Amino acid sequence: MRRKLVAGNWKMNGTSADLAQIEALAEAHTGALSEIMIAPPATLLHRAYEHTKSGPITLGAQDCHKCASGAHTGDISADMLLDAGTSYVILGHSERRADHDEHNEDVRAKARAALSAGLRVIICMGEELEEREADNTLDIIGGQLAGSVPDDITGETLVIAYEPIWAIGTGKVPSIEQISEVHDSIRKRLEHRFGPQIARSIRLLYGGSVKPANAAEIFAIQNVDGALVGGASLMAADFSPIIKALDAS
Ligand code: PGA
Repeated sequence: MRRKLVAGNWKMNGTSADLAQIEALAEAHTGALSEIMIAPPATLLHRAYEHTKSGPITLGAQDCHKCASGAHTGDISADMLLDAGTSYVILGHSERRADHDEHNEDVRAKARAALSAGLRVIICMGEELEEREADNTLDIIGGQLAGSVPDDITGETLVIAYEPIWAIGTGKVPSIEQISEVHDSIRKRLEHRFGPQIARSIRLLYGGSVKPANAAEIFAIQNVDGALVGGASLMAADFSPIIKALDAS
């Protein structure tokens, strides 16, 4: 009942020439079973929309401001993202939390702004290596979930991405058991907070060094509904096999 979702986070990568990657993906996956989302940098959103509006790819942004408009030089509001053709916004990525000192309450405020503008939100959470080694992962994730996710979500508007910080861009991936344990615990906490019906329809993505070579075994995990992919989403040749692996799962 949950439609699988594979989301590509381009981070601070991509100029006009890279729109060809989006075009190639749109052509190659017209009949995709899974939902495919790409979050290019904000500068490409408008043009990317022209390549994606009639195809299988939806567009996402990588952040938004918590206010609808105003004196916030350099920032972008959820309404502006919607106007650019965006359907999703990624919030609380560990790089935003680290580079911009974003805390759970900031992520929650941004999520509320995005939801009221009509965007879907992908809220990211994940533990540091020291936290995993100290066996604190489930508590850390539980705290991020409680603090970052607003109350006014639905099963359709919220996606959670579990991204262990030590796995992002490193080539290191948690074991299947470790991913499974965290995803099961997220699902349980969502059930407790939102009730079984809403919790069952929220998609839980895994992120952190997802590659064509490891995608199939990650997608076989019961509570994994897709992936948030960084490096391997930049080139259609890498992202395509990941999409196919999700379609086949
Ligand atoms: P990665 O990044 O796939 O390059 O590890 C994932 C992410 O940060 O979303």
